[in-house]
Amino acid sequence: MSSFEVLMPLPGMPEIAERLERRVTLHKLWEAADREAALAAIAPSVRAIVSTWARVDAELMRRLPKLEIVASFGVGYDHIDAAWAGQHGIVVTHTPGVLDEDVADIAIALTLAATRRLPQAERHLREGRWPQGAFPLTASLNGRTMGILGLGRIGKKIARRAEAFGLRVAYHGRHKQDGVAYPYYPTPLALAEACDILLLAAPGGPETRHVVDARVLAALGANGVLVNIARGSLVDEAALIAALRDGVILAAGLDVYEREPGVPVELIALDNAVLLPHVGSATVHSRTAMANLVVDNLLSWVDGKGPLTPTPETPWRR
Ligand code: 8YV
Repeated sequence: MSSFEVLMPLPGMPEIAERLERRVTLHKLWEAADREAALAAIAPSVRAIVSTWARVDAELMRRLPKLEIVASFGVGYDHIDAAWAGQHGIVVTHTPGVLDEDVADIAIALTLAATRRLPQAERHLREGRWPQGAFPLTASLNGRTMGILGLGRIGKKIARRAEAFGLRVAYHGRHKQDGVAYPYYPTPLALAEACDILLLAAPGGPETRHVVDARVLAALGANGVLVNIARGSLVDEAALIAALRDGVILAAGLDVYEREPGVPVELIALDNAVLLPHVGSATVHSRTAMANLVVDNLLSWVDGKGPLTPTPETPWRR
């Protein structure tokens, strides 16, 4: 067994620990009776953290003087202070690319489900209400514009699917992108004014916190649909609940929430919200690929070959 010591605060897919244990000394913190004491005992020798959704902040990293790398499960890494890590010579890796298709599929599924009220129509049938009357007519995707906030790797996959459904596509992001023909809007507000379906696909974190607030929802308008497959932190959830309740927007399709796994009861009570429990990447295909990429990043580092998919904040230079 190698003496390369790895801290894993929370359990993840079993194959992560199984593969790692063949090559490194893995400290499974969740198995310790006294986690604080266990962490204190291993802190001086830990060289890597594997985060399966575990928060890795500056406070934790400061306690680990030999820390070299944090390998995170997921493309989004707003639960990790990557900027602090980068400034202190610590590499952070994530799992981009391998989950894009599945997440883009869920974005389109939520767009259809929220606009055509598919879960509500199914409940109409299951609850035996069909014989008493047909399910009411709904809004349509016909002639609509999807505004994508965050036209990154996943946003582009969503855009391609949206075009196949006959939707016009527009976008907002930090910069107008060269070689992208979709119309660019310089602010979230301008994008919301120009579209009917506002699709959130931007990273979480302080920069995008509450980019969708009461003003943006008002701009989206009474026929507007909000779809969020990114992070709950992008949306002022209280403002969204009020907008759905008061008919400021038509509907919402959400896969993510501000305080997961907590979902406000007010949101659950709303008939014009379609709510999924953060399942964008939750297929065997994507999650297995993500688990493998976490381990491959770490083992590549252990073998002296550098990280495979470092975050932009990382100090790694090829
Ligand atoms: C999570 C995600 O990784 O990749 C992301 O950023 O949001 C998901 O794929 C997953 O939900 C972690 O449990």
